[in-house]
Amino acid sequence: MLHVNENYARIKPTYLFAEIAHRVAAHQKANPDAKIIRLGIGDVTEPLAPSVIAAMHRAVDEEAGRENFHGYGPEQGYAFLREKIAAVDYAARGADIKADEIFVSDGAKCDCGNIQELFGPDVAVAVGDPVYPVYVDTNVMAGRGDIRLLPCNAANGFVPGPDGCTADIVYLCYPNNPTGAVATKEQLQAWVDWANERKALILFDSAYEAFIRTPGIPHSIFECTGARTCAIEFRSFSKTAGFTGVRCGYTVVPEEVAAYAADGSRVSLKPMWMRRQTTKFNGASYITQRGAEAVYSPEGQSETKATVDFYLENARLVREALAARGYTVAGGVDSPYVWVDVKGDSWAFFDKLLKESNIVTTPGAGFGKAGEGYIRISAFNSRENVLEAIDRL
Ligand code: MLT
Repeated sequence: MLHVNENYARIKPTYLFAEIAHRVAAHQKANPDAKIIRLGIGDVTEPLAPSVIAAMHRAVDEEAGRENFHGYGPEQGYAFLREKIAAVDYAARGADIKADEIFVSDGAKCDCGNIQELFGPDVAVAVGDPVYPVYVDTNVMAGRGDIRLLPCNAANGFVPGPDGCTADIVYLCYPNNPTGAVATKEQLQAWVDWANERKALILFDSAYEAFIRTPGIPHSIFECTGARTCAIEFRSFSKTAGFTGVRCGYTVVPEEVAAYAADGSRVSLKPMWMRRQTTKFNGASYITQRGAEAVYSPEGQSETKATVDFYLENARLVREALAARGYTVAGGVDSPYVWVDVKGDSWAFFDKLLKESNIVTTPGAGFGKAGEGYIRISAFNSRENVLEAIDRL
């Protein structure tokens, strides 16, 4: 008899954003003329930067002839991209990351979900509550049962500290999805010190780092002293450069970072991740990687920054409009997400906004128990739609 992976019975049958998409589709079907404004899933709406488009066109032309044709790419991604990442995202911020510690992929979601394959079934995993559901669901799918929740609430500014945490792995995401909170250097350093002391590991998701405007807020865990021995970082071009449909991200696994075998011997994680990726993945396309490389040109940097600024202005408008209507709001400053205290059932609030105002948000309960009572509003939309949503609210 074929035995199913019963761990799937321990997670919700539908992924959060798939559930929302179903509800929105049903509402649209019942109300074909409704002009629905989507402020739910964090999906970009602005076009790719001109320099990215030009680079991708050039790459398509190369693929059109024999002379510069590219088949399978190098296993970790093209050096032209990894070297720019190391220089601009790390060296320029004082973080020591080498190009050969960077693994280019088709997005941070897959990497965040796949990384847990490197660890034993019995490791204890700590996550924030509320949290991006991928961290929890992928561990539960793999049979891990020891998932510990770190409360993120208004009292701690949505940034939990390591005190009392005895997990082996902690997932941290700053700027945070869903609350929009940012962590200070001191707060992240406390986690790095904790991890080094306990031989634990930080899985740091900085997919939203491009939204940081407040000086002094770290963009990378590797800005903290000692992070090379205890952290892996995930980055994405999705929100930074509008690549949600193009698909490109990368993961940084420093040489020094390790886990331990049953006999206590140290096992380096970088070769394991290399083994995993080369076995199960064949890389992001050449065209995509040329597009990602263009993000690091001077024009690419200023064009993508302007687009992020545009979304940040949307976030400011939403945040201030809701605050003026008496809501308690967090996030939306160094983040595209505004976290709104709706003082009630978040799915009920979501349904009410959808049915009465044709506005899609994300109910906080979808991110965990502590998300109940909140909704997340995404700033990824046109100015016109954001202003209209504010009017409807
Ligand atoms: C979100 O809305 O939380 C994100 O778009 C999800 C993701 O990046 O996978």
